Parts: sequence; C-alpha cells; structure tokens
Amino acid sequence: TTYKLLLLPGDGIGPEVMAEVERVVAVLGEAGLASFETETDLVGGAAVDAHGVPLADATLARARAADAILLGAVGGPKWTGVAYENRPEAGLLRLRKDLLLFANLRPALCYPALADASALKRELVEGLDIMIVRELTGGVYFGEPKEITTLPDGSKRAVDTQVYTTGEIDRIARVAFDLARKRGNRVASVEKNNVMKSGVLWKEVVTQLHAAEYADVELEHVLADNCAMQLVRRPKQYDVLVTDNLFGDILSDAASMLTGSLGMLPSASLGEVGADGTRAALYEPVHGSAPDIAGKDAANPLAMIGSLAMCLRYSFGLGEAADLVDGAITDALAGGARTRDIASEDSKVLGTKGMGEAVVAALKSR
Ligand code: NAI
Ligand code: MG
Repeated sequence: TTYKLLLLPGDGIGPEVMAEVERVVAVLGEAGLASFETETDLVGGAAVDAHGVPLADATLARARAADAILLGAVGGPKWTGVAYENRPEAGLLRLRKDLLLFANLRPALCYPALADASALKRELVEGLDIMIVRELTGGVYFGEPKEITTLPDGSKRAVDTQVYTTGEIDRIARVAFDLARKRGNRVASVEKNNVMKSGVLWKEVVTQLHAAEYADVELEHVLADNCAMQLVRRPKQYDVLVTDNLFGDILSDAASMLTGSLGMLPSASLGEVGADGTRAALYEPVHGSAPDIAGKDAANPLAMIGSLAMCLRYSFGLGEAADLVDGAITDALAGGARTRDIASEDSKVLGTKGMGEAVVAALKSR
C-alpha cells in the first residue's frame, strides 16, 4: 500500500523540523518499510502571506483526501496584525473542526537518557510510558450557555457549561480501549462523578462499554484530583488515561513535564472511523513555532519525528516501522545526541539537522 501523507510545515521552526521528518520518510521508503506519496502545502502564517487566509479551501480538500496529515507549527510575531479570524492559529482550528478531530492523544514518554531532565526523580520516571487520551471537541470549552451577564446590582456572572452525551463519551472511550490493547492493556478513566453529573454519565458509559466489548482490558476509575496527585507521586502506575477536554488539557500538560523538553513531545488528533474504515488524523508536535529560535538550526526535531512514528502506528498500522523510528530516537539519545533544549553542561550540542542525521544514522544501523 502507498499511503498519502500531507505535510503542512507551517511557520517558524515548523519547516525546519519537517525537513528532518522528510529525511526519515525517505529512509523508510528506500528500505522498503513503507511507501508514501507526500504532498506539501501551506498553513498558518505562510498561508496568510500567500493566500490571505491561514488555511485555503484547496488545502483543506487535500487534507480530506490524505490518509494522514503531519503539521509542524503555526504562528509568530509577524502575523499579530492580521484580523482575528485570519490569525495563523485559526488555520489549525479549522482543520481540527472540519475533520472532526475529537480524540487527542498525548504520550508522556521518558527516555532513559533524559530521565534526569524530568521534573521528578529519575527512579519515578525512568521507563515512563503513559498515553493520555483527551476528548477534544466537547465539554466545558464548547458547552452552551457560555456567557457573562450583568446582575441587577451591577456585578457580573460568568457561566460555562460542561456538556457530554453518551455518544461523545462512548467514542472517546473506544479510542482509549483500542489503544490499550496495543500497549499495556490497562485504562484509567478520569472524571469527577462525586461532584459532577457529567462525571456520573462518563463513568456509567465507560463501565458499560467495558463490560460489553472490552472486558479483556483492565479498567480503573480515578477521580481527576486524585489522578493529578498520582501523576506526580507514582506516574508509572498508568498505561492509558482517558478523560474529558478540561481535565485532559491540565493533566497532559502536567504529564509533559515528567518527560523533559517541549521539543520531545509528539501528539495525534483522530477523527471518527468512517463507513470505509478510514479515519481522519493529524499528527503534530505539542510545541509551537518557537520564533525565538526559528531559522537558527536550533530546534529539536524529535517531537516532529515522534509524531511521524505515531502516524505510522495509528493511521497505517505499521507497528514495525514505528518501532524502528522510536528505536532510532532512543538510540540517538543513548549515543549522546542532544539539541540545546535537552543538553546538559557537558554534552556536545547538535543543531536541528545534526539531530536529524543522528536519527537517520541510528535508523540505518537498526
Ligand atoms: P513555543 O512552543 O513555540 O515555544 C516555547 C518555548 O519552547 C520557546 O522558548 C521555544 O524556543 C521552546 N521550544 C519549542 N519547541 C522547541 C523545539 N522543538 N526545540 C527546542 N526548543 C523548543 O510556544 P510559544 O513561544 O508560546 O508560541 C510561539 C508561537 O507558536 C505563537 O505564535 C503561538 O501561538 C504558536 N503556537 C502554535 C502551536 C501549534 O502550532 N500547535 C502550539 C503552541 C503555540
Ligand atoms: Mg494546554
């Protein structure tokens, strides 16, 4: 099978880290491990400059036609003057919204070579491998009513509404259970059923789905506040965590600090499985366009390369190729390759290209 990959490098360091992914893609192709047809297009500020909008209709059509999308990053000081609806970030939001990307996957993985860069002690994080599955299109960020009103005494009242339906909970829980089967086979479902109705329904739907279709996966229910505590106390107890939009936002940011630098963190956003069995998917590093280091060959490309590995695994079912790419990242780090963001005092610092070369070399010798 030849897979259609749409590359959207975007702004700032986006094109720099994407260039390293292209080298990895080329090596996989030459080795006969995976066959890709890649297309490259503009998004974010780059698209604003060329088309006046951060995501052109033609680009969206390409995104729909692709088997998966890899995105670098969008935004930067150059575009602070453009209209709000045309700001670079709006291009990414339009992609997420149009492709109905409801499931956000954020792994928190601690490479042994970087365990000392964690916010926690080495023994607590060495070998850490958690996958946080966050619901991305529902919950309190989108629920209605959402408003600020003025009360008779002149003071104000703000309302945000947490809304979840059975269908929304069921589909995100499925993503988590399916992922768990490919990993450690354990799911922790996170909500607050002690004080929230949405938590009561969340727990009920997850429990029913588990009994009906996923009884082989180990399931535990964790209150969100306790989960935050456990992530700092004993993070390695978790395999897959599944939670709503708000809790997922907070818990995934906290978990990311267990692993070192922003430059190390990949992510995936998945849509629904269509009638033909395919699903829209966007893979991107967690970091932004890093204008402070853009154009200096200083960005860490590992989050972007790790996003490619997620794409191989979750969109294309190419577990072996994904393992090779992840393994090459591990080997490069073990061999001492460091960009500035993950360097310690005595390490020799590589640029973006140098780190890409180290990964390619490690890949070739695997
Ligand atoms: P940022 O993630 O771009 O940078 C934060 C800090 O981390 C900076 O000091 C940067 O140099 C460093 N950093 C980020 N990625 C790195 C990498 N791969 N290697 C080494 N160091 C790295 O976040 P910031 O500065 O808040 O935002 C900059 C721009 O990016 C803004 O326009 C923002 O809106 C946009 N942004 C875009 C995102 C996206 O495309 N998904 C996500 C977050 C921010
Ligand atoms: Mg956040």
